[in-house]
Amino acid sequence: MYYLIGIDVGTSATKTVLFDEKGTIMASASADYPLYQPHNGWAEQKPEDWRDAVLKTLKQVTVQAGVAAADIKGIGISGQMHGLVMLDEAGEVIRPSIIWCDQRTGAEVEDMLKLMPREEWIEITANPPLTGWTAAKILWVRKNEPDNYARCRHILLPKDYIRYILTGEFATEVSDASGMQLLDVPERCWSDVVLQKLEIPKEWLGRVYESCEVTGRVLPEIAKATGLTPDTVVVGGAGDNAAAAVGTGVVRDGTAFTTIGTSGVVFAHSSQVTIDPKGRVHTCCCAVPGAWHVMGVTQGAGLSLKWFKDQFCQDYVAAADEMRVDVYDLINHDIKSIPAGSDRLIYLPYLMGERTPHLDPDCRGVFFGLSAIHTKAHLLRAVMEGVSYSLADCNDILREMGVAVDEMMACGGGGKSAIWRQMLADLYGCPVKTVHQSEGPALGVAILAGVGCGIYESVEAACAKLVSADKCSEPDPEDAKRYAEYHRLYKKLYIDLKNSYKELAAL
Ligand code: XUL
Repeated sequence: MYYLIGIDVGTSATKTVLFDEKGTIMASASADYPLYQPHNGWAEQKPEDWRDAVLKTLKQVTVQAGVAAADIKGIGISGQMHGLVMLDEAGEVIRPSIIWCDQRTGAEVEDMLKLMPREEWIEITANPPLTGWTAAKILWVRKNEPDNYARCRHILLPKDYIRYILTGEFATEVSDASGMQLLDVPERCWSDVVLQKLEIPKEWLGRVYESCEVTGRVLPEIAKATGLTPDTVVVGGAGDNAAAAVGTGVVRDGTAFTTIGTSGVVFAHSSQVTIDPKGRVHTCCCAVPGAWHVMGVTQGAGLSLKWFKDQFCQDYVAAADEMRVDVYDLINHDIKSIPAGSDRLIYLPYLMGERTPHLDPDCRGVFFGLSAIHTKAHLLRAVMEGVSYSLADCNDILREMGVAVDEMMACGGGGKSAIWRQMLADLYGCPVKTVHQSEGPALGVAILAGVGCGIYESVEAACAKLVSADKCSEPDPEDAKRYAEYHRLYKKLYIDLKNSYKELAAL
């Protein structure tokens, strides 16, 4: 029996899972780290924290699993997309990473639009210039921190920094590189046109691989520290969403998934490059060689619920500790008795601005309709409904683009909640299913590693063998009708507030 490891460098934690070649979990470990928000709308993390979490959890899983190191054939790395990691000549981190949900780069996006028309950006990078994507962040550092920029010699994404730590290689792969705004997405290679326009040296970027190609082997000192061997290969891996697609079996046309992690994503596989001319959803290369995906992203999904829980739910946290249950299970239990629509309460989940469909870094969260009858459980339910309305916005755009979806899977922490899946089924008007295999991105990149080292024939063949559907939530006609009305009002609220958000940002 051979073994594979999947590492997922998330926003709240890194999760490392060791699987056997049949996809059975042999060992799993996670380690969390802080998110720094030095200003309203900014978000940073320390790459050194990701490194420490990866090395610690790798060691934990090899010890826990107790299998022969020589049988652990490959590692796949997945991670939060778009984060900027800058390294100097010696490979040292220059400044904290500016991560995916950071919204400081409004001016840089304007600068990018002066260099090249929006349509041309969309034609080459498949997306309009976006505040959270890597290119705008590089320009921000060049403008605001010239000393840091002068020291820069390598630019990497979060998971690709981990690859550098594990193998010493500067490399990336197509799915994550698509989110840098420097890749020619239809051609799957760096865009010379974009790099010249932005004056970013190509040699700062790593080589671009397909997601299941071997990019290097574990360095001897890392192998020793973590219980691996220097023969263990590290494959390209994938951005967290492309990795979750593989882990939920979304690898052919007609399949899609919704993930509720820190961000929320509605993702559909596409064998053709399909681009929204309005740029409201992203088109990226996916982890299946020669294919793409379209995805809508809501910035504050699980982030909204975690924020509310951390700030206002100490009672739930204490009760969960005492009862030794998951705090989110208690929350799910309590909101069941609140009707759909939360007794006329609507939450807009724009804590970190919003991407799909508004592309607005300045909008912020709102509870609309607060009344003296509302309890904490109403607010919690409204938060989950607000996130669901924003995911329905993403799904509506995919439909408008004609991206056919026959099967919608759910994953991420929020996807585990039956009541949250029911909200999605009611709003999408289609069944929403889970998969038996709960490890999403970590399983996805372990599968990619298995393809890279020849254990599986292809990504599609491995998914057919290892991933299977589990629970299914069918739409409830009554609630679906009610949610449709609430969703209409939810959409209107953004339009009504748009100018006020700008005024607020200028205060
Ligand atoms: C996708 C996105 C997020 C991050 C964090 O565009 O920004 O989903 O990958 O998970």
